[in-house]
Order: sequence, then C-alpha cells, then structure tokens
Amino acid sequence: MRVNVVKSPEEMGKRAAAIIAEGMRSKPHYVLGLATGSTPIPLYQELIRLHKEEGLDFSTTITFNLDEYVGLPPTHDQSYRYFMNEQLFNHVNIDPKHTHVPDGMTDNPELHCLTYEAWIEDVGGIDCQVLGIGGNGHIAFNEPGSSLASRTRMLSLTEETIKDNSRFFASIDDVPKQAITMGVGTVLEAENILLLANGANKAAALAAALEGPVSVKVPCSAVQLHPEVTCVVTEDAATALTLNFRS
Ligand code: PGA
Repeated sequence: MRVNVVKSPEEMGKRAAAIIAEGMRSKPHYVLGLATGSTPIPLYQELIRLHKEEGLDFSTTITFNLDEYVGLPPTHDQSYRYFMNEQLFNHVNIDPKHTHVPDGMTDNPELHCLTYEAWIEDVGGIDCQVLGIGGNGHIAFNEPGSSLASRTRMLSLTEETIKDNSRFFASIDDVPKQAITMGVGTVLEAENILLLANGANKAAALAAALEGPVSVKVPCSAVQLHPEVTCVVTEDAATALTLNFRS
C-alpha cells in the first residue's frame, strides 16, 4: 500500500493522472476502471489536459465504469454514462465503443451483470481501477454489508448514500433507489488500484478502510488485501491516518 498525501484536489488529480498516463504509455489497449462522483473530476481534467497539450493517446484505451443508477437513461444528466461523456470521453480521442458503463435501463440485470464481467475478462482484466470512497466506506455502490467477494450485480442503495447523492438531484425523491455495481471481488481483480480521497468528510472512512479491520462494515477495507494499491489523498482526508504505510 502506498499512500501519497497531497495539498489540494488539483494536486491529487495531477498525481493520479501521471500514474494512469504512465500505464497508458507503457501498454497498448490499457484497460482503465473508472469512477464517478466529485472526487475524480480533477483527475479527468488533468487527463484531458495531458491529451490536449502532451498528446496522451486514448485511441486504444478501453474503459469500464464501476456503476450506474438503475432507471436512468444515458441521456439523463445524472446518469453516470452522461457524467463520463461530459467529464472525460467527449474531450479525448477515445473510441466510444471502447467505453463501458453498466446499462441502468437493462431489462435483464442479471444477464447484463454477467455480460459486463465477461467483457472485462475478454479484454484481459482491468489494468488500473480508480476508486473513490463514500463517507460510509463504500466503494462503487458496494454499501456496508456487501460481501468482500461480491461480483457485479444490482442492489439497493442505503439511505445515507441516497441522501449524499441527493445534492445532484432536484429532490431526494428523484434519486434512484437501486444501482448496478461491480462487486468488491470484481474490483480486487484489477491489476492496480488507485484510491482517491478528498475532503475532511472522508477522513474517518479512509482511516477505517486503510487502518481498521478488513470488514464488510467498511467495503473499502478490502483494498488492504490487494498487493498493488496506491492512494492519493488530500491532507484533510488524511487527518485520521496514523500509520507510516509501506508497500
Ligand atoms: P464523491 O463520492 O467522490 O462524490 O465524494 C465518492 C463515493 O461515494 O464513492
């Protein structure tokens, strides 16, 4: 586990983007696992800058997003497909066919989840999975209580996550109650994990995830079992960490 503490969200974005760019330059058909939410936005801004100013090439990059709300079409401005198009895909030379986000409108979630996993396997697995952490320790939509061996599936969101995410919707009643998410077990199969955290509201969850017991109470704690984890976290998110992390 490597933990890089940085001064600002911008620095977090730059550090994370540098790690991803190095991976993309070293391997054609690099497979990126991507996350939504406010945390990775500075990362996506820096990746766009690297593309425009330094020629970072996305033409052979393949992406898989962690999750999507059930019931929101890609055209809905709160769907994660829409978010990814707006925040990254529309601004780089990625082939839209190489970008994957779970389909929140599928009429057969079970089959879709199995297919999503098969697509990841078909391209040889994820090279680098970007993760944020929820205030309750979730990763993707794997809420506390999610099995650490869980796979891609449809599930119900907790009240806390619905409340956290209601800031993006006109009213809390508009927040979808279900989502499709990669499982914790799916995430752990990535070659590398890049965990980002920004803000004092993440400090307790981050410390529980990195220093607490590995537990279904804190799904992000599963990253302790992964051999290649790099955390890039802002100073305010790191305040509750006490250990000197070694790899
Ligand atoms: P945030 O969400 O980046 O918007 O804080 C992270 C998460 O809930 O996984």
